[in-house]
Amino acid sequence: MFKIAVLVSGGGTNLQEIIDNIENKRLNCKIEYIIADRDCYSLERGRKYNIKSVLLDKKEYGNKLSNEINKVLENKVDLIVLAGYLSIIDKDFISDWNNKIINIHPSLLPKYGGKGMYGMNVHEAVIANKEKESGCTVHFVDVDIDTGKILLQRKVDVSNNETPESLQKKVLKEEHQLLIEAIEKVISDSVISNKGGI
Ligand code: GRF
Repeated sequence: MFKIAVLVSGGGTNLQEIIDNIENKRLNCKIEYIIADRDCYSLERGRKYNIKSVLLDKKEYGNKLSNEINKVLENKVDLIVLAGYLSIIDKDFISDWNNKIINIHPSLLPKYGGKGMYGMNVHEAVIANKEKESGCTVHFVDVDIDTGKILLQRKVDVSNNETPESLQKKVLKEEHQLLIEAIEKVISDSVISNKGGI
């Protein structure tokens, strides 16, 4: 069984999509762990489904946070999904998990990515720059912020009277679809490569 860990920091609507699509059998995988870097509703979502949900508080662990995550995960999962995870992951951790960490970001990367570009900041910048379109991206995590290989993207139109709030709502709706498509793709690619390719 393909096993994943989901790292979270917030309300967990992306996490909930993963849970729901495992429940409805679209995703053939198991959430082995949910790990939060702060107390957040995502943990509650996991506990409702008896998923091992661990709080590793970034305030308590500081720059040791990645080590603590590794202690929980060891090598028991095939993929790490960052779903609204806000702490920076250290470079050693990323190279240990080479190409096994994906992140969902609420813009059409490489635009509106990088330090400080998260959540509402992204949508405010898109609107301030009078962009006609925005969207979301799932990418592999590399040692820089939001720069890894792009896996999938979805676009949304930005209307003339768009607000950051209305844009966030539009983009989040697409994120929920995109993240499931991306996890499906990683699982099927891993199945193919485990069968020694075509
Ligand atoms: C989403 O906007 C996602 O793009 C970003 O953080 C937010 C997570 O939302 N990485 P939720 O906690 O999954 O509802």
